[in-house]
Amino acid sequence: MKHVLFVCLGNICRSPAGENIFRQIVKDAGLSDTILCDSAGTEGWHTGKSPDARMSKTIKKRGYLVTGSARQFSLNDFDAFDLILTMDDENFTNVTRLAHSPDQLARVKRFTDFCTQHDHTEVPDPYYGGTAGFELVADLLEDGCQNILNSLRQSS
Ligand code: 4NP
Repeated sequence: MKHVLFVCLGNICRSPAGENIFRQIVKDAGLSDTILCDSAGTEGWHTGKSPDARMSKTIKKRGYLVTGSARQFSLNDFDAFDLILTMDDENFTNVTRLAHSPDQLARVKRFTDFCTQHDHTEVPDPYYGGTAGFELVADLLEDGCQNILNSLRQSS
């Protein structure tokens, strides 16, 4: 089994979109029994809330389901997840500084390291912007999620 966690700031835009896109890609590959995913925010401001309506609309249009309710990243996540994918530099700093061992640290990777069609080094926070920002998030997530699956297949 592999467990993958997507992490952003609020857990209502980027990381739940990543989780839902990845889950569909995994399902399409017939690997839902062996690769599980979840998402979390470095902050707990939106705990319990559904994904942002603008983000949901953007990925529903692309054919993905939208599930989940926001929660804050916790130290237990270092034990529960093999791969922890952060959306931007701030998320990366905030998660890596909580790691207590080299093994925990090694589980944290920048999501954009898996993008091959885009050279962005962050998935930009779309919360205070317009539609184009949400579309860019979805483009980056689709790109990276496919390569994360490829990478997990190669390593198993
Ligand atoms: P996310 O986006 O980190 O992709 O979920 C945000 C959601 C909420 C806020 C900022 C970013 N906020 O300031 O409440």
